[in-house]
Amino acid sequence: MNHDLQKEQLDEIFTYYSGQKDRHTQEMVVALLREIQEVQGCVDGKAREKVLEITGVGEGFLKTILRLHPSIKEAANLHEIIACTGEWCGKKNGMEILSNLRKELGIAKDGISRDGQFCLRTQNCLKQCKTSPNLMIDGVLYSGEKLKNLKKLLDEVRG
Ligand code: FES
Repeated sequence: MNHDLQKEQLDEIFTYYSGQKDRHTQEMVVALLREIQEVQGCVDGKAREKVLEITGVGEGFLKTILRLHPSIKEAANLHEIIACTGEWCGKKNGMEILSNLRKELGIAKDGISRDGQFCLRTQNCLKQCKTSPNLMIDGVLYSGEKLKNLKKLLDEVRG
């Protein structure tokens, strides 16, 4: 999904929940977390902070909810991959790399890999076009030749 669109959808969700009177209830917090996960594949630290701010619940309460709902993935436990879907990377096999990545990891609809270790999302240009094609994994940029052997790269990341 395009990053701007993702941001727009998240803003819409946040605005909606901010206006709900019962937003501090467990039911609403879970619904909010699920909606975030649907948009960005996981609930990362930044999103968790936003949830605390919007709902006004305590950190302990949120942690308990996350523990009770293992299907809600926290990015903290996952390697985050951001694949570039921008024009320059597109010209250099970016889309092929993305589809190979999806296949290799068995990425489900929610963006989570089969082994539960990776969360994949896309961004329209990582602002590093010179080195395209590009991928960002856990905040580190991987480019060009390095992306020829995805299996090896992913094994490296797994450690
Ligand atoms: S198009 Fe991929 S980094 Fe700009």
